[in-house]
Amino acid sequence: MDDRGGLLCIFGATGDLAAKKIFPALRQWSDDALPMRRIWCLGRRSLDTAQYIDFIETRGNIRLGQSLRERIRYHQLEFGDAAAYQSLANRIHEQGFDQDARRLFFLAVKPEAFVPIALQLHGAKLLANGHPEHRLMLEKPFGGNLQSAVAIQQRLMDLVSEEQLYRIDHYLGKEMIRNVLTIRFGNRIFSESWHGGAIDRIEVTSIETTGVEERLDYYDQAGAINDMVQSHLLQMVALVAMAAPDDLGPDSIRQAKIDILNHLRPDPEAKQVIGQYAGYGDQMPGSATETAVEAWLRIDTPQWAGTRFIVRTGKKLAEKRTEIRLHYRPTQLCVSCSETIEARANQLVIEVFPHEGVQLQFNSKTPGYKYEIEQVMAEYCHSCRMIGNKPEAYVKLLQDAWEGDKTLFASFAELQAQWRIADAIRAAARQGDLVIYAPGAPAIISSGGQSC
Ligand SMILES: NC(=O)c1ccc[n+]([C@@H]2O[C@H](COP(=O)([O-])OP(=O)(O)OC[C@H]3O[C@@H](n4cnc5c(N)ncnc54)[C@H](OP(=O)(O)O)[C@@H]3O)[C@@H](O)[C@H]2O)c1
Repeated sequence: MDDRGGLLCIFGATGDLAAKKIFPALRQWSDDALPMRRIWCLGRRSLDTAQYIDFIETRGNIRLGQSLRERIRYHQLEFGDAAAYQSLANRIHEQGFDQDARRLFFLAVKPEAFVPIALQLHGAKLLANGHPEHRLMLEKPFGGNLQSAVAIQQRLMDLVSEEQLYRIDHYLGKEMIRNVLTIRFGNRIFSESWHGGAIDRIEVTSIETTGVEERLDYYDQAGAINDMVQSHLLQMVALVAMAAPDDLGPDSIRQAKIDILNHLRPDPEAKQVIGQYAGYGDQMPGSATETAVEAWLRIDTPQWAGTRFIVRTGKKLAEKRTEIRLHYRPTQLCVSCSETIEARANQLVIEVFPHEGVQLQFNSKTPGYKYEIEQVMAEYCHSCRMIGNKPEAYVKLLQDAWEGDKTLFASFAELQAQWRIADAIRAAARQGDLVIYAPGAPAIISSGGQSC
């Protein structure tokens, strides 16, 4: 099949995600020539294609190149309007698209719309059940809790097969997240000590300085647990804690993640803490939605006996930072048998954003005649080595979905396990108070004496 005969259909094409992530990614990709012949942009606003391009360029503050502009067509469509899907199908067929041509439907919409859209696509014969070239790319979140995720999945399974679903977690497309398995399994110095005997705790952090801003309605329903922990942070924990996969193929990696997620649960000896920044209530009076979380987790496998996993996220905190930080157990150094010197604990930091790289803190003798130990740092800057366009997660995800590579997309079994953990964190956290924190507070939310 000629790839250039394929089409990409974007639902929610007038939304924030389309303007800020999808079109910038397509623009970057078009430098290497986009493989799809047509990009259908679907929205309920009354616009023609030229007006739509103006709209997206203004909203996204970008300029689209000629090859991308030529592929775009706008089509007005309300999610539940069967006639609008039929007229879309007619327009697609008029342009000579083969039924077997690749069709990637990107649903940049809220999860409640997944089933209605899939139903209508099916009704208009745009989406055939089991057809490997007809794919649905679904934005996160997939549901709002375990129960709703299962309900969506069951209804989708009447219309498509699991192989046709590409569930996005765009953190999985980030350079340093894609580097985690290489760092872990490609280096004996790390792989040999990647267990509870050597590692005291692992912190997975993603915090930011901005507040909720224009996504208030969405955010107030979701909260930080659903927006960040359920998806991005638990996927990061899975990558950092999973056993070595049998191979680096998508099925083996996904299975290794499922296996470890099934052993992950809130630490019964720690508090799960949720917070809200002061001032959020002025935007959403009376809301108890959390804008920050600190969740303490345990993994009940022999490999991770004794290791605490701490996931943190929050808005309007002192800095913007995403990282995975391993705190090794301290060791003692015997210089002469009469004198024991405590060496400070090593730390390994995988920096995801804004800096991309690796830091290793280790002990060294101070320079000079005297014997003293100090902690020093070796740093690797990953982003410094990139020439030209910095790889963007959405470019990688769009390319992989187009090619049918599911390595970076979450399976339903992973999501089920993630929802089970997120729901358990939420239930435990709601037993405590909602901590009100000052905007710009230090990254770590006061956690009631759970000192590291
Ligand atoms: N924005 C982000 O950075 C981001 C990041 C990760 C995940 N997500 C997820 O991606 C999804 C979309 O996010 P977003 O920020 O782009 O949302 P948004 O700005 O609210 O956009 C929603 C889009 O859906 C359209 N829409 C809503 N109801 C419709 C209907 N009945 N018929 C036809 N079109 C309808 C909207 O059209 P109108 O323009 O006419 O309202 C708009 O194009 C959400 O699930 C969100 O959680 C977003």
